[in-house]
Amino acid sequence: MNREQANAILEKYMEGEPYRQHSYAVEAIMRGLAKRLAPEEEEYWGIVGMLHDLDEEHCDWKNHPEVHGPTSVEILKKEGIDDTVLFDAIKAHNPKSGMKAKTTLQYAVLAADPMSGFVKAVAQIYPDKKIASVKHKSVAKRFNELRFASGANRDYMEMIEFTGLSLDDLIDVALEEMNVIADVLGL
Ligand SMILES: [Fe+2]
Repeated sequence: MNREQANAILEKYMEGEPYRQHSYAVEAIMRGLAKRLAPEEEEYWGIVGMLHDLDEEHCDWKNHPEVHGPTSVEILKKEGIDDTVLFDAIKAHNPKSGMKAKTTLQYAVLAADPMSGFVKAVAQIYPDKKIASVKHKSVAKRFNELRFASGANRDYMEMIEFTGLSLDDLIDVALEEMNVIADVLGL
């Protein structure tokens, strides 16, 4: 599957604009992480990021968090995709699915997911709400204010360290890569 095919699947199954923007944000961060961790697999890591929440509008994740991830896998199988590495990474981004992250790719998506929302939340406190205005230092400062964007799981973001990168690296990658597609993200 290439990016174009992955995007066609995303557009088929995901209607909500904020969900799509989140998918593209995580794709961008995953590509940025791949540049540092697996340069040959940049497009693939991006696809993992883009499709990680594919089932958002197709399962009752609020009441049954364990189905978020496995339902995406079912959708992809229905679309003729057969890729265990992709499936396992999608499941591992939600530990409540029962799949625990073990590989570099799995830790990367686990950490990239909450970081995308966290950086967006920081951008939104700026008067212009632009990601271009966000400084690394303010993301790091807000990270330690646990009441700020409390839904963004700090533990998952810190799991980036299992890839060999630091939380500071992850913040840099998120700011840089999300800024490149700021118009798509509305930031
Ligand atoms: Fe997500």
